[in-house]
Amino acid sequence: MNKFILAAASVAALAFAGSASADPIVVKFSHVVAEHTPKGQAALKFKEEAEKLLPGKVKVEVYPSSQLYGDGKEMEALALGDVQFIAPSLSKFDKYTKKLQVFDLPFLFDNIEAVDRFQHGPEGQKLLHAMESKGFLGLAYWHNGMKELSAKKPLLVPTDAKGLKFRVQASDVLAAQFQQLGANPQKLAFAEVYQALQLGTVDGQENTWSNCFSQKYQEVQSDFTATEHGVIDYMVVTNTGWWNKLPKDIQAGLKKAMEEATKVNNDVAGKLNSDARKKIEASQAKVHELTAAQRQEWKKAMEPVWAKFEGGIGKDLIEAAKKSNSGGKS
Ligand code: SIN
Repeated sequence: MNKFILAAASVAALAFAGSASADPIVVKFSHVVAEHTPKGQAALKFKEEAEKLLPGKVKVEVYPSSQLYGDGKEMEALALGDVQFIAPSLSKFDKYTKKLQVFDLPFLFDNIEAVDRFQHGPEGQKLLHAMESKGFLGLAYWHNGMKELSAKKPLLVPTDAKGLKFRVQASDVLAAQFQQLGANPQKLAFAEVYQALQLGTVDGQENTWSNCFSQKYQEVQSDFTATEHGVIDYMVVTNTGWWNKLPKDIQAGLKKAMEEATKVNNDVAGKLNSDARKKIEASQAKVHELTAAQRQEWKKAMEPVWAKFEGGIGKDLIEAAKKSNSGGKS
């Protein structure tokens, strides 16, 4: 009898082990933006490639638009293993490393090409590992693009922003940037911005054209200014412990899928942003272009923020970022 029970138990154990190894690994990818944005498209491409490269071995579930976790919860969910990939904007890692604040310094990067050069240079690549001691591993950078400003009035010179309330991401640099202008920053989750603009909890915001359009900010903001004063890019991060325990073939397949998704992201980001800009221009909202002199004024007004954060970021990183503007690899 005992022998029978023992045998039955081992058959059950074998069956369980068999089914467990046959079941695909479920990989949850959570993000906060709409599907028709650079990140939304790239996450879908990652799913497609991963499932093609690892048929039956991996199932990727993509959750856009804060459906699964919003800004406040996604890092915690990743740490707990409730989700395996997230791609927060670089501004949202403030709590975990000060080094990534380099991406938030206003007017540090001239354009997205300079950001790209910095990310692919040695300093940018090293930053992918800046949060490993906290259990997070960066696998790739994904572009969105340069940020613009919007409000319920034209913002043409820095004093136009004085006294206004601006939504910012959870970043001390971005908060300081608006304080520098005599404005009042309010840290808010992305999912809450439309309503805050509609209700007047905040008067303005900064974001890329594709994020502005996909969130319909043109319905609740009368004026947009093409300032390109900073960048919204992403780091795709995973849980280091989970990643290191993956079988090597799965890890290699996911890495390859990530490379493909990164290419797609970076190919479509520029176009999605310029299309979104055109759609905002065609809406009832106005889009203002700055003269060179006006842009210089914004730069002069915001740049003092750099000195405040140089200690945490490191002078070397700031220098490398500056160098990326002149085309030289950092
Ligand atoms: C995102 O692009 O992921 C959202 C950025 C934001 O919170 O403004």
